[in-house]
Amino acid sequence: MLREGQNAVIYRADYQPPAYWIDTVDLCFDLDPAKTRVLNKMKVRRNPQVAPQPLKLDGDELNLARVLVNGQGTSFKMEGDRLVLENLPEGDAPFDLEIFTTCAPAKNSKLMGLYTSNDSFFTQCEAEGFRRITYFLDRPDVMASYTVTLRADKQKYPVLLSNGNLVDQGDLDDGRHFAKWVDPHRKPSYLFALVAGQLVCREQKITSRSGNDHLLQVYVRAGDLDKTEHAMNSLIASVAWDEARFGLPLDLERFMIVATSDFNMGAMENKGLNIFNTKYVLASQATATDTDFMNIESVVGHEYFHNWSGNRVTCRDWFQLSLKEGLTVFRDQEFSQDLAGEASARAVKRIEDVRVLRTAQFPEDAGPMAHPVRPEQYLEINNFYTVTVYEKGAEVVRMQQTLVGREGFEKGLAQYFQRHDGQAVTCDDFAQAIADANPGSHLANNLEQFKRWYSQAGTPRVKATTRFENGTYEITLSQSCPPTPGQAAKEPFVIPVAWGLVGADGREVAGGMQVMTQATETIRVDGLASEPVPSLLRGFSAPVVLEWDATDAQLLALLEHDTDPFNRWEAAQRLGVRRMLDAIRGSGAITLDDAYLQAMRSILRHPKLDAAFKELVLTLPAETYVSEQLDEVDPQRVHAVRESLREQLASALAGDWAWAYEEHKENGAYRPDHVSAGRRALAGLALTHLCIAARSSGDTVWPGKAYQRFKDASNMTDRFNALSALVVSGHELSRPALDRFHGMFRGEALVLDKWFALQAGAPDRGGNVLPVVRSLMQHPDFNLRNPNRARSLIFSYCSANPGAFHRADAAGYVFWGDRVLELDGVNPQVAARLARAMDRWRKLAEPMRSAAREAIARVAAKPDLSNDVREVVTRALA
Ligand code: ARG
Ligand code: ZN
Repeated sequence: MLREGQNAVIYRADYQPPAYWIDTVDLCFDLDPAKTRVLNKMKVRRNPQVAPQPLKLDGDELNLARVLVNGQGTSFKMEGDRLVLENLPEGDAPFDLEIFTTCAPAKNSKLMGLYTSNDSFFTQCEAEGFRRITYFLDRPDVMASYTVTLRADKQKYPVLLSNGNLVDQGDLDDGRHFAKWVDPHRKPSYLFALVAGQLVCREQKITSRSGNDHLLQVYVRAGDLDKTEHAMNSLIASVAWDEARFGLPLDLERFMIVATSDFNMGAMENKGLNIFNTKYVLASQATATDTDFMNIESVVGHEYFHNWSGNRVTCRDWFQLSLKEGLTVFRDQEFSQDLAGEASARAVKRIEDVRVLRTAQFPEDAGPMAHPVRPEQYLEINNFYTVTVYEKGAEVVRMQQTLVGREGFEKGLAQYFQRHDGQAVTCDDFAQAIADANPGSHLANNLEQFKRWYSQAGTPRVKATTRFENGTYEITLSQSCPPTPGQAAKEPFVIPVAWGLVGADGREVAGGMQVMTQATETIRVDGLASEPVPSLLRGFSAPVVLEWDATDAQLLALLEHDTDPFNRWEAAQRLGVRRMLDAIRGSGAITLDDAYLQAMRSILRHPKLDAAFKELVLTLPAETYVSEQLDEVDPQRVHAVRESLREQLASALAGDWAWAYEEHKENGAYRPDHVSAGRRALAGLALTHLCIAARSSGDTVWPGKAYQRFKDASNMTDRFNALSALVVSGHELSRPALDRFHGMFRGEALVLDKWFALQAGAPDRGGNVLPVVRSLMQHPDFNLRNPNRARSLIFSYCSANPGAFHRADAAGYVFWGDRVLELDGVNPQVAARLARAMDRWRKLAEPMRSAAREAIARVAAKPDLSNDVREVVTRALA
């Protein structure tokens, strides 16, 4: 039996078209933080394709005052949160439905629906937030034309925004004013937005290729205007790119971005009125790092690209989420690569994207929350805004491009938008359009099999074995996929494997693309004088684990010679992972061999390679990535081994790191471009290693230099890298540096987030991190209700610092359980994200494993848990 507010599981197979359509919506808001009045006038009609039935409107935490049908009072009843209308006019003719409700934005700590933040109003409606604003058919396949009137106190809320075009505005009595907006495009309710408050904006008029004029605006709080230039430039670049690359123009006269510091996720693509977490808008060289600048570019692009992939063509139901998210992540990744320019900079971006996939999505796909790119069921849809739906979904789109070619994909996308413009469709519709535009392609020939990428969860494994005989080289590839919850057996996938052969002299001798459709396939190359080294899965051509027992010599050869930059980096990763695994499985100690150190040195000193690429090669594989390769994980041991390797890399290459630091530390006037950002990244990595080496040698020069750098830096990247070098190496100068940093940036929320995160993510030394985290919870700047701040302290500890979190005394788990429960009362979405820090508990070594189970069970036992957290902990324990 379900308690009030608890839903049942929803299944994709149960999809039914809506029994009614809502054609127009006329919303009128009287905005008041304590009690906002919402008058919603709709034109509704029966869907003639569906058997007659009552109209059931979704609602959530609304106060209902009045319901009128064609202007007359009507009977209604409630079914849980739903408003049910039974006595509706007969026939298919449209009727007027008017609903008057109130809600309490200031009390809305879930940040879904209409809420206040810093005395302004914002909305978040995806996925199911619109029902917290008014009763509605809150599902993406119901699309309507919206007219919105906002009324509010003029002094407190001078700016009143909604989707579309401003058609009227003026003053009202009692110091109030109004604005009326009309959205020219039909849209599902999840794309509705309004904003009201004291905001200022940067604006720019542009003329598109096709000759249309548009007004672009970026709205922020008054003090932040000087931090909006980069977001505006990113938006301008996005508009130009989508038109140039895919022929997709901006379809609005006005396109607005608004930043808020209270936001559950990154940003939201509401039609013409994107709402962003400040983290992905605000940047100045003093407050934002190079990574922040890059993230802003990609998130601004992402939300803008949704205007086509998501808004013009949307999802039929939420199981199809990857239809818009996988495609749009793919598009934003392509955008960032195209802006990066040169092949080597594109490769760096590709490596970074793959690193995210492998450190976050692979574990998800191997854990209790594993789900297909198109899930079959959910309890709470917010739990499925995942790296699987987004990042793996993007890889599934990328493979389609690989299978039809770049031009073929552009044709396919054109076909998709032409066929489905204005519709709410499915992942099948997408793949079908790409295939139909490319008859005879690998995709068209294997479409049904290819679509297993949408329906089967789990990361496929491709095992490679090789043989060389009489000048013939054979690579045998065998695929398999481990079981995931609810899917015991898997059918073979279509796997494009890009490959090459590197000759003994380092030159490329052969190459191609093997499109695997069978469980086992063989690549054969004849007429070779000597045994080559295989370079497989180039560019990470499919989201799989490549099992290949390479020798060190083979990996060193690829690191030195491979023409594929991705596999060059991958060779270094494999060398590093192997050494870490040997140490973890062995005595826990390992002395790095000369061959490895020499290879790392020659990359670091390489005359031709980019600094950004060097930085990636010289960064050891992440602890979570290494842990995934183990059957049983002791996170402290994994951490200790990685630290020990890093110390050896630091000490053995001390002279080289010093050279690298001096060589790359000056970059002239700050610009967040890829080349100078790469130099700063490498200088930062060098400084960290120099401070680590100083700890064992007792040297004080480099920590002193780091402190000086921290004080004098002209930009946040250099300043934060220097601070981080002191914190990571555990030097005593880190304390005064942290204090000084806080003093310098006490008014900059996003910088304070970095300050909290750095301390919560610091290497554990004798269990010292948890007490620091606990005391920072009491810091006057800490605020659990602000998602960015909660993430910066609590998530940085529980989810991003495994060596400190997984304590033998279970104190980390107790802390986690307390915070999940505490957050669940405030913001279930954020609480459920935190709950996932325990996803991989079954792999933990004892005593952690039992303690983790107990901590999860304690959370699960709470009677009034949100659907969000309940789904995560139930699946974890199942
Ligand atoms: N569609 C947004 C994006 O671009 C994410 C919205 C997520 N919202 C949520 N409540 N889970 O990626
Ligand atoms: Zn998105």
